[in-house]
Amino acid sequence: MCGIFGYIGKDKKPASLILEGLKSLEYRGYDSWGIVVISNGILKRERHVGKIGEAKTVLPQTTTGMGHTRWATHGGVTVINAHPHFDCSEKFAVIHNGIIENERALRRALIKKGHKFSSQTDTETIVHLLEEVSKNNKKNNLSLVDQVRLATSKLEGAFAIGVIDRDRPEESVLARFGGPLVVGITDGYKLFASDPTALLPFTKNVIYLKDREIAWITPNKVEIRSFENHLKRSKIHVLDWDVEESKKGGYPHFMLKEIMEQPLSLTDTMRGRIRDGGLVKLGGLESVKEQLRDIDFIRFIACGTASYAGLYGASVIQELTSVTADVEIASEFNYGSFNWPDRSAAWFISQSGETADVLKAVDRVKREKILSLGLVNMVGSSTAQATTAGVYLHAGPEIGVASTKVFTSQMISLLMIACWLAQLRGEGEKSRQVAKQMALLSKLLSAVLNSRQVLKEIARELVSKSQIFFLGRGRNYPLALEGALKLREVAYIDTVGMPTGELKHGAIAAMDKDRPAIIFAPSDGMEMKNRSSVQELKARDIPVYVMTDKSGRKKFTDVADRMFVIPDVHPILQPILLAPIVQILAYEAGVLLDRSIDKPRNLAKSVTVE
Ligand code: M6R
Repeated sequence: MCGIFGYIGKDKKPASLILEGLKSLEYRGYDSWGIVVISNGILKRERHVGKIGEAKTVLPQTTTGMGHTRWATHGGVTVINAHPHFDCSEKFAVIHNGIIENERALRRALIKKGHKFSSQTDTETIVHLLEEVSKNNKKNNLSLVDQVRLATSKLEGAFAIGVIDRDRPEESVLARFGGPLVVGITDGYKLFASDPTALLPFTKNVIYLKDREIAWITPNKVEIRSFENHLKRSKIHVLDWDVEESKKGGYPHFMLKEIMEQPLSLTDTMRGRIRDGGLVKLGGLESVKEQLRDIDFIRFIACGTASYAGLYGASVIQELTSVTADVEIASEFNYGSFNWPDRSAAWFISQSGETADVLKAVDRVKREKILSLGLVNMVGSSTAQATTAGVYLHAGPEIGVASTKVFTSQMISLLMIACWLAQLRGEGEKSRQVAKQMALLSKLLSAVLNSRQVLKEIARELVSKSQIFFLGRGRNYPLALEGALKLREVAYIDTVGMPTGELKHGAIAAMDKDRPAIIFAPSDGMEMKNRSSVQELKARDIPVYVMTDKSGRKKFTDVADRMFVIPDVHPILQPILLAPIVQILAYEAGVLLDRSIDKPRNLAKSVTVE
């Protein structure tokens, strides 16, 4: 969850540069932050509680250093728990993302050996372990890499760590087992970060560290070895994102920018993938084409918003092909019992590609020898690397913690996957019609976004309510879940998301004037069922907001309190056009309630701990 940023060199002003890097990583964790630099053989550190905001650093601008933004796991949000952490002799500094599961046993053993702990963090055990290794090997003259290897061999759990040593002002060592780490390559100095977007202002050339790898970094060299000390070949990836793309572009918040750029992100996701006549081409699946031709069952595995996109994906796969599909929440999947019929595939959906629950599920699926596929936004991320094949979203960087443009890109990708599968299996007639319609989406989506003002007025009515019910049927049910999640996470309003047909099985008992319903009811063949549900709510004085399309509106004009109308489109595409509604409602409600829009309290963009 936490953000890591480091600099190895001497030409730049390291402390200021690290602070800049941390600012762009703050969405990963923002309870507290800290920086350390090496100054004349001494580790100089500053640590603070709260967001970085417009902070300036007070540290000397000397050589190598590193910084961290924290999302607390072990120990409260205090200055002493903020990273970087030092050993007793203040020789080593460590920053860490992840959780050390044997922290208590290690701490006890280290205390017995005389180490003094100053924080409650699991991270501090790492730095004392390092000190122990260094003390025990004084005569052996071990390199920093060897010391880190010995220290990390004692750790259980997940970690991505950065280490510096006051006596080695021009080197740093990284070790990765579970959390993301990327090295930025430039002439004369090197950088590292937990997210490549933080490196973009400085370089587009990066090396992704893999699990069980250790990197030794100097201003002119990066050497990567396995935990077993085998030298590895490191491939340099060239990032194809623009620095401007990851900035706010004139919008007050990243969330709004990302909502408004959906016509473009959808186009980017579809680019080159839909051919004349509605044929879909997905290059990332070529290598597993033969297996997928005969597949009988697909299980999508994901968390949060990505799992709701998965629900939509499972429904459209079943609609367009003869393949059975379902969705499991990764954290449930990891500890449950699940059967896999013959000819199954697991498909992991993740924006970051670094979600710990998802990565754990990938491991399990691979152990069970099931074909593992990815649908990921972050190129080169852990999920992308760990799966056999997959599809990239190409939605561009998403910085706001609330997922918006990635949700619509996930849905359109899943629809393309359904069409591709149908065409591969000779079941493609309907899919070609659908694929041709996709070309219209970006224009129609712009029309929806242009009506933002109506949604702003609805949001104004919603912010004073005690609870809000989001309702949908069939393909639009995932939207009810996404609507409830979005409003909860951005505006902190109590919400429920449920299938419309379930109202009478319990929920309607709790609803009243102060607990309105938002119902997704486009013209998809369920209009009369939806109209009955609206009438039942109205008969009990429960306010109803109907989200429908041009053709559907006449069914609701006499019963809805308020309506929002999207343009007509093929029913299978309706959820994609309806999605911005929940995003804008959540955004506007969050602004009216003065919430922390891009970094909601207690959340982080990338959930890299279980
Ligand atoms: O990076 P991922 O797609 O794996 O993240 C999954 C969820 O953590 C994420 O979608 C989360 O629910 C968002 N904050 C929702 O807006």
